[in-house]
Amino acid sequence: MADVIAPSAPLAFAFASLTAAAPVRYDGHALVRVWIDDARELAALRGRVDEIWTEHPGRGFVDARVRPHQLAALRDAGVAFELRAADLQAGIDAERERLRGAATPTASTWFDDFRDYDAIMAQLEAMAAAAPHRVSVVDLGASLEGRPIRGLRISDAPPGAPAVLYSGTMHAREWLATMATMCVADRFATADDTDAVVTDLLSAIEIWVVPVINPDGYVISWTEDRYWRKNARDGYGVDLNRNWDYQWAVVGASDDPYAEDYHGPAPFSEPESSALRDFIVARPQLRAHIDFHSFSQLVLRPWGYDYALPPDEATLSMLGQQMSDAMWDATATDYASIHAAELYPAAGAVDDWGYGVQGLMAFTIELRGDDFVVPPSQIGPACDENVAAALQLAAWVRQRAPEPPPEGGTTGDAPPPDHGGSEDGGPVDPDGGSDGTGEPSDDPPGADATPGGAALPPGFGLGHAQGGGCRSAEPRAPAWLLLVPWWLRRRRRQGT
Ligand code: ARG
Ligand code: ZN
Repeated sequence: MADVIAPSAPLAFAFASLTAAAPVRYDGHALVRVWIDDARELAALRGRVDEIWTEHPGRGFVDARVRPHQLAALRDAGVAFELRAADLQAGIDAERERLRGAATPTASTWFDDFRDYDAIMAQLEAMAAAAPHRVSVVDLGASLEGRPIRGLRISDAPPGAPAVLYSGTMHAREWLATMATMCVADRFATADDTDAVVTDLLSAIEIWVVPVINPDGYVISWTEDRYWRKNARDGYGVDLNRNWDYQWAVVGASDDPYAEDYHGPAPFSEPESSALRDFIVARPQLRAHIDFHSFSQLVLRPWGYDYALPPDEATLSMLGQQMSDAMWDATATDYASIHAAELYPAAGAVDDWGYGVQGLMAFTIELRGDDFVVPPSQIGPACDENVAAALQLAAWVRQRAPEPPPEGGTTGDAPPPDHGGSEDGGPVDPDGGSDGTGEPSDDPPGADATPGGAALPPGFGLGHAQGGGCRSAEPRAPAWLLLVPWWLRRRRRQGT
């Protein structure tokens, strides 16, 4: 969660940066790592730095960006820190230089380096053109500055089949998350018949991918301010991941427009968050969602606004752990599976809305890295582990999907219910709007949330509606997961 935020940075500075042509510079800004024992120390550190970039539950190291005078003040005050980078501008310059000199990407070099908004939009078109039977471009609407927010539908299943959504770049500067989201799309879009796992998934479910939810911010991060996080609202920006209407603004979000976690004047005040909301609401077949961010190596699950356990804690924690395990298996990289609030309570994020209002199994994954500027060599491994997580979640959705129609068979609008999930939950409603009792379940799970999670309210969320998630999900998980030695997982838990 490099997404954390210190008290507001110099406003005039930020504003000038957007109206003037010259990019914002970070000369002499340093990245420092400080050991934090408790909340009081963290609060004290916030007052001494420009922006905190990483947090974690409990005691541990925190990374923060400091201006030159703040670095000097830390030294004068005798604060112990490790200097991780002495001049962030040097890294920005090196990245800019490299990207300037880069050749126009081809299909085989596309993932070799970071890609700007135009290149990503072009790639979406290219992916659809290469597999028109399977891949189509979808328009979600436009950003504040009128840039299209686009995504892909990737599926061989009939429209309305159970679906999973992967999204990225709600926060502009998190470029590795942008690339990982594109990798997920690529993995699904380019699978051929020899790829039995993906082919099977696509036969029964829909994959939706929206790689750049915040196009204006992303462009700003490429042109004017590499560390821009928010959208382009009026020169200060709204944090799109504090703008969602579920417990909006109750905690971990600022009412200061210049704060990095400014929640906006009202829920869904921004066209980008509204566009993604409308997209999700229009697709009741969606069952699960991952929103990719960087960085901190975490798989976050609801709630984020509060420490209370969600009604579907059992399913959410199982899925989070399965994804974390899959990521470990892919690259031996440890992503801790925790509640978002354990990181720091923050309300108005897409995950709480997706779960709390729409009943999605909604996750936020914070990628690897120790800066937003990372070498392109990180793209490959970040993709490997996050595609593994994406496949894991898709496998869970697929496991609950109806069997695809026989070869050559006609496809109705809505597939028939899957009786495989009925052992303890009753038939699964393909639209996700029923709970097996025949009654629509439109109460947000939060309305019934029981701290401790002992009693699950009837009829919400796919987890318990379909029951037995943990056990029944396993047989259809990708074969390679089943082969992972148990001790490997054990060993990892003894790590950091
Ligand atoms: N780094 C993300 C952010 O700050 C974490 C969001 C986690 N979800 C939550 N509901 N707090 O936006
Ligand atoms: Zn983020």
